[in-house]
Amino acid sequence: MTDFLRLAEDIAREAGDMLLAKRPTMSEEVETKSSPTDVVTALDTASEALIRERVLAARPGDRILGEEGGEQPGESDVRWIVDPIDGTVNFLYGLPDWAVSIAVEVNGRVVAGVVNVPVRGELYSAALGEGAWLGGERLRCNTGVPLAQALVATGFGYSVAKRTVQGQVVAAVLPRVRDIRRGGSCAIDLCSLAAGRVDAYYERGINAWDFAAAGLVATESGARLAGLNGRPVSPDFALCAAPGLFEELHDVLAPLDPERDA
Ligand code: IPD
Repeated sequence: MTDFLRLAEDIAREAGDMLLAKRPTMSEEVETKSSPTDVVTALDTASEALIRERVLAARPGDRILGEEGGEQPGESDVRWIVDPIDGTVNFLYGLPDWAVSIAVEVNGRVVAGVVNVPVRGELYSAALGEGAWLGGERLRCNTGVPLAQALVATGFGYSVAKRTVQGQVVAAVLPRVRDIRRGGSCAIDLCSLAAGRVDAYYERGINAWDFAAAGLVATESGARLAGLNGRPVSPDFALCAAPGLFEELHDVLAPLDPERDA
């Protein structure tokens, strides 16, 4: 476990340093993916290539799932889940909140997670059953916060269809909570929850690479992370908060369960 964590930390630091050195300006050419708002910069691709190369140099045969390159098969029961830049739109606009996210999954269970936020000089890490840390500091999420006083982070996917429904979810949540934050990086939202900077996080329509590493940081800080109505967290829905607040927010979100649309 420690070996996985150290390797993930080293690789996330190296990718973050490369990205800091080569940060783009808005004049850089970008390509679009699933929709005109879903962008990929040349540096997303370069960061993922670097991470894949370093992982395979250290652990040939491991599998890798990356946002830009998809699934790379292998014989190993170890899979690395990589978001080379989470918060690509922030990155493109020169905003500080973007991150390199690397999770290590063994037999389908995330055992180590690292989120590097280079501009802020913050490296979050977690090991299953051992805890979550920011630098050397152990992280504990906020507890005992009632829904009406909760600061809730959320995010929005890129398709128009997703956004239409996400707007409806915001409309249901906003009148019930202290306020909502949309920071632009799911990985940082979940790490912020672990650090007590927000109280809860939810997103409808998210990707595995966005929450794999930071989800472990959040749960190792004491938070609960799951989907709706007893289902595990999945690309359909991610809800995260300390027990108590989790259930209160769940009651607001459950009527908007995407399974009901199926
Ligand atoms: C996005 C961010 C954003 C979330 C989107 C993700 P990307 O990831 O995490 O906060 O709301 O759903 O797609 O595209 O910047 O890697």
